[in-house]
Amino acid sequence: MKYISVAVDGPAGSGKSTITKMVAEKLGYNYVDTGAMYRAITYNFLNNDLKELNEEKVIKFLSTLKFDVKFIDKKQYVLINGEDVSEKIRTAEVSKFTSLFAKSPAVREFLIDTQRNLAKSNNIIMDGRDIASVVLPNADVKIFLTASVEERARRRVLDFERQGITDVNYEKVKEEIKARDYQDENRDIAPLIKVDSAILIDTTELTIDQVVEKMIELIKFKENL
Ligand code: CDP
Repeated sequence: MKYISVAVDGPAGSGKSTITKMVAEKLGYNYVDTGAMYRAITYNFLNNDLKELNEEKVIKFLSTLKFDVKFIDKKQYVLINGEDVSEKIRTAEVSKFTSLFAKSPAVREFLIDTQRNLAKSNNIIMDGRDIASVVLPNADVKIFLTASVEERARRRVLDFERQGITDVNYEKVKEEIKARDYQDENRDIAPLIKVDSAILIDTTELTIDQVVEKMIELIKFKENL
Protein backbone atom coordinates (compact mmCIF):
# COMPACT_ATOMS: atom_id res chain seq x y z
CA MET A 1 0.00 0.00 0.00
CA LYS A 2 1.23 3.46 -0.83
CA TYR A 3 1.05 5.88 2.07
CA ILE A 4 0.78 9.64 1.70
CA SER A 5 3.56 11.72 3.18
CA VAL A 6 3.38 15.45 3.79
CA ALA A 7 6.50 17.48 4.61
CA VAL A 8 6.11 20.74 6.51
CA ASP A 9 9.17 22.92 7.07
CA GLY A 10 9.59 26.37 8.51
CA PRO A 11 11.14 28.47 11.25
CA ALA A 12 10.18 28.65 14.95
CA GLY A 13 6.81 30.27 15.55
CA SER A 14 5.57 29.90 11.98
CA GLY A 15 2.65 27.86 13.32
CA LYS A 16 4.09 24.55 12.14
CA SER A 17 3.40 22.32 15.08
CA THR A 18 -0.06 23.70 15.97
CA ILE A 19 -1.24 23.57 12.38
CA THR A 20 0.39 20.27 11.49
CA LYS A 21 -1.15 18.63 14.55
CA MET A 22 -4.63 19.87 13.62
CA VAL A 23 -4.29 18.76 9.99
CA ALA A 24 -3.11 15.33 11.15
CA GLU A 25 -6.10 14.98 13.46
CA LYS A 26 -8.60 16.00 10.79
CA LEU A 27 -7.16 13.63 8.20
CA GLY A 28 -6.33 10.74 10.55
CA TYR A 29 -2.62 10.90 9.73
CA ASN A 30 0.23 10.38 12.20
CA TYR A 31 1.83 13.67 13.18
CA VAL A 32 5.59 13.18 13.23
CA ASP A 33 7.28 15.94 15.23
CA THR A 34 10.99 15.78 14.34
CA GLY A 35 11.78 18.81 16.50
CA ALA A 36 10.75 16.73 19.53
CA MET A 37 13.38 14.15 18.55
CA TYR A 38 16.16 16.78 18.40
CA ARG A 39 14.88 18.19 21.67
CA ALA A 40 14.89 14.77 23.37
CA ILE A 41 18.49 14.12 22.41
CA THR A 42 19.46 17.60 23.59
CA TYR A 43 17.63 17.01 26.88
CA ASN A 44 19.71 13.88 27.38
CA PHE A 45 22.98 15.70 26.60
CA LEU A 46 22.10 18.50 29.05
CA ASN A 47 21.33 15.90 31.73
CA ASN A 48 24.81 14.54 31.11
CA ASP A 49 26.29 18.04 31.47
CA LEU A 50 27.14 18.33 27.82
CA LYS A 51 26.58 21.98 26.90
CA GLU A 52 29.04 22.46 24.05
CA LEU A 53 29.14 21.04 20.57
CA ASN A 54 31.86 18.43 20.95
CA GLU A 55 31.36 15.85 18.21
CA GLU A 56 33.45 13.21 19.96
CA LYS A 57 31.36 13.42 23.13
CA VAL A 58 28.15 13.54 21.08
CA ILE A 59 29.10 10.29 19.35
CA LYS A 60 29.96 8.69 22.69
CA PHE A 61 26.61 9.64 24.26
CA LEU A 62 24.67 8.55 21.18
CA SER A 63 26.33 5.15 21.21
CA THR A 64 24.80 4.28 24.58
CA LEU A 65 21.47 6.08 24.15
CA LYS A 66 18.28 4.11 23.80
CA PHE A 67 15.95 6.20 21.67
CA ASP A 68 12.36 5.28 20.79
CA VAL A 69 9.43 6.98 19.11
CA LYS A 70 5.96 5.59 19.73
CA PHE A 71 2.51 6.49 18.52
CA ILE A 72 -0.49 6.01 20.77
CA ASP A 73 -3.81 7.16 19.31
CA LYS A 74 -1.78 8.87 16.59
CA LYS A 75 0.05 10.99 19.16
CA GLN A 76 3.84 10.85 19.20
CA TYR A 77 5.83 10.01 22.33
CA VAL A 78 9.61 10.22 22.51
CA LEU A 79 11.38 7.91 24.95
CA ILE A 80 14.97 8.24 26.12
CA ASN A 81 16.32 5.16 27.87
CA GLY A 82 12.72 4.05 28.38
CA GLU A 83 11.54 7.35 29.92
CA ASP A 84 8.83 9.38 28.19
CA VAL A 85 10.36 12.85 27.87
CA SER A 86 7.70 14.33 25.55
CA GLU A 87 6.72 17.04 28.04
CA LYS A 88 10.09 17.73 29.68
CA ILE A 89 11.69 18.82 26.43
CA ARG A 90 9.60 22.00 26.10
CA THR A 91 11.73 24.30 28.24
CA ALA A 92 13.50 27.47 27.03
CA GLU A 93 16.85 25.91 27.91
CA VAL A 94 16.21 22.85 25.76
CA SER A 95 14.99 25.12 22.90
CA LYS A 96 18.18 27.11 23.02
CA PHE A 97 20.55 24.14 23.04
CA THR A 98 18.59 22.12 20.49
CA SER A 99 19.62 24.42 17.64
CA LEU A 100 23.21 23.96 18.73
CA PHE A 101 23.14 20.14 18.80
CA ALA A 102 21.04 20.03 15.63
CA LYS A 103 24.21 21.16 13.84
CA SER A 104 25.96 17.91 14.73
CA PRO A 105 26.30 15.51 11.77
CA ALA A 106 26.19 12.56 14.20
CA VAL A 107 22.89 13.71 15.72
CA ARG A 108 21.28 14.21 12.30
CA GLU A 109 22.57 10.86 11.06
CA PHE A 110 21.24 9.20 14.22
CA LEU A 111 17.67 10.43 13.58
CA ILE A 112 17.22 10.23 9.84
CA ASP A 113 16.44 6.51 9.55
CA THR A 114 13.86 6.67 12.33
CA GLN A 115 12.20 9.59 10.57
CA ARG A 116 12.19 7.92 7.15
CA ASN A 117 10.90 4.65 8.53
CA LEU A 118 7.91 6.36 10.13
CA ALA A 119 6.75 7.41 6.66
CA LYS A 120 6.79 3.83 5.37
CA SER A 121 3.98 2.36 7.40
CA ASN A 122 1.38 5.13 7.76
CA ASN A 123 -0.03 8.24 6.20
CA ILE A 124 2.06 10.90 7.90
CA ILE A 125 2.52 14.61 8.16
CA MET A 126 6.03 15.42 9.37
CA ASP A 127 7.30 18.81 10.47
CA GLY A 128 10.81 20.13 10.93
CA ARG A 129 13.51 22.09 9.15
CA ASP A 130 14.89 19.64 6.58
CA ILE A 131 11.96 17.37 5.81
CA ALA A 132 11.47 18.28 2.14
CA SER A 133 15.16 18.92 1.53
CA VAL A 134 16.72 15.85 3.19
CA VAL A 135 14.42 13.45 5.04
CA LEU A 136 11.57 13.00 2.54
CA PRO A 137 12.59 14.61 -0.75
CA ASN A 138 9.87 12.57 -2.49
CA ALA A 139 7.05 13.60 -0.14
CA ASP A 140 3.68 13.83 -1.88
CA VAL A 141 3.01 17.32 -0.57
CA LYS A 142 5.65 19.83 0.56
CA ILE A 143 4.75 22.95 2.45
CA PHE A 144 6.94 25.75 3.75
CA LEU A 145 5.31 27.79 6.51
CA THR A 146 6.65 31.14 7.50
CA ALA A 147 5.67 34.41 9.18
CA SER A 148 7.39 37.69 10.02
CA VAL A 149 9.81 37.51 12.94
CA GLU A 150 7.68 40.04 14.88
CA GLU A 151 4.57 37.90 14.53
CA ARG A 152 6.47 34.75 15.43
CA ALA A 153 7.82 36.40 18.60
CA ARG A 154 4.32 37.62 19.49
CA ARG A 155 3.01 34.03 19.18
CA ARG A 156 5.83 32.66 21.35
CA VAL A 157 5.05 35.20 24.08
CA LEU A 158 1.40 34.12 23.97
CA ASP A 159 2.49 30.45 24.20
CA PHE A 160 4.48 31.24 27.34
CA GLU A 161 1.57 33.17 28.84
CA ARG A 162 -0.77 30.25 28.19
CA GLN A 163 1.69 28.07 30.12
CA GLY A 164 1.43 30.53 33.04
CA ILE A 165 4.83 32.11 32.36
CA THR A 166 4.11 35.84 32.39
CA ASP A 167 7.50 37.49 32.98
CA VAL A 168 8.56 37.17 29.34
CA ASN A 169 10.14 40.00 27.47
CA TYR A 170 8.99 40.36 23.86
CA GLU A 171 12.29 41.84 22.63
CA LYS A 172 14.26 39.03 24.26
CA VAL A 173 12.01 36.38 22.71
CA LYS A 174 12.42 38.05 19.32
CA GLU A 175 16.22 38.03 19.66
CA GLU A 176 16.17 34.35 20.67
CA ILE A 177 14.06 33.49 17.62
CA LYS A 178 16.44 35.42 15.37
CA ALA A 179 19.41 33.59 16.88
CA ARG A 180 17.76 30.20 16.27
CA ASP A 181 16.80 31.19 12.72
CA TYR A 182 20.39 32.14 12.07
CA GLN A 183 21.73 28.83 13.43
CA ASP A 184 19.14 26.80 11.52
CA GLU A 185 19.59 28.63 8.21
CA ASN A 186 23.35 28.85 8.22
CA ARG A 187 24.53 25.45 9.39
CA ASP A 188 26.58 23.37 6.95
CA ILE A 189 24.41 20.30 7.21
CA ALA A 190 20.67 20.24 6.41
CA PRO A 191 20.04 23.98 6.78
CA LEU A 192 16.49 25.30 6.87
CA ILE A 193 15.58 26.11 3.27
CA LYS A 194 12.50 26.16 1.11
CA VAL A 195 12.90 23.68 -1.75
CA ASP A 196 11.55 24.81 -5.13
CA SER A 197 8.81 22.20 -5.11
CA ALA A 198 7.42 23.34 -1.73
CA ILE A 199 4.36 25.55 -1.54
CA LEU A 200 5.00 28.68 0.49
CA ILE A 201 2.36 29.74 3.00
CA ASP A 202 3.00 33.00 4.85
CA THR A 203 0.89 32.75 8.00
CA THR A 204 1.53 36.32 9.28
CA GLU A 205 -1.93 37.55 8.34
CA LEU A 206 -3.79 34.21 8.42
CA THR A 207 -5.72 32.53 11.21
CA ILE A 208 -4.83 28.98 12.24
CA ASP A 209 -8.09 27.70 10.73
CA GLN A 210 -7.36 29.37 7.41
CA VAL A 211 -3.96 27.71 7.16
CA VAL A 212 -5.36 24.33 8.24
CA GLU A 213 -8.04 24.56 5.57
CA LYS A 214 -5.55 25.50 2.89
CA MET A 215 -3.28 22.57 3.77
CA ILE A 216 -6.13 20.08 3.85
CA GLU A 217 -7.18 21.23 0.41
CA LEU A 218 -3.66 20.63 -0.94
CA ILE A 219 -3.42 17.18 0.65
CA LYS A 220 -6.92 16.07 -0.44
CA PHE A 221 -6.02 17.04 -3.99
CA LYS A 222 -3.05 14.64 -3.84
CA GLU A 223 -5.09 11.88 -2.17
CA ASN A 224 -7.50 11.97 -5.08
CA LEU A 225 -4.89 11.76 -7.82
O1 CDP B 1 8.64 24.44 17.83
P1 CDP B 1 9.94 25.08 17.39
O2 CDP B 1 9.91 25.47 15.96
O3 CDP B 1 10.41 26.15 18.30
O4 CDP B 1 11.05 24.03 17.53
P2 CDP B 1 11.08 22.51 17.12
O5 CDP B 1 10.35 22.26 15.86
O6 CDP B 1 10.70 21.73 18.32
O7 CDP B 1 12.64 22.32 16.82
C1 CDP B 1 13.63 22.67 17.75
C2 CDP B 1 14.97 22.84 17.05
O8 CDP B 1 15.36 21.55 16.52
C3 CDP B 1 15.00 23.76 15.84
O9 CDP B 1 15.26 25.11 16.16
C4 CDP B 1 16.13 23.18 15.00
O10 CDP B 1 17.37 23.68 15.41
C5 CDP B 1 16.10 21.70 15.32
N1 CDP B 1 15.46 20.89 14.27
C6 CDP B 1 16.23 20.56 13.16
O11 CDP B 1 17.38 20.95 13.06
N2 CDP B 1 15.70 19.75 12.21
C7 CDP B 1 14.44 19.31 12.29
N3 CDP B 1 13.97 18.51 11.32
C8 CDP B 1 13.64 19.66 13.38
C9 CDP B 1 14.18 20.47 14.37
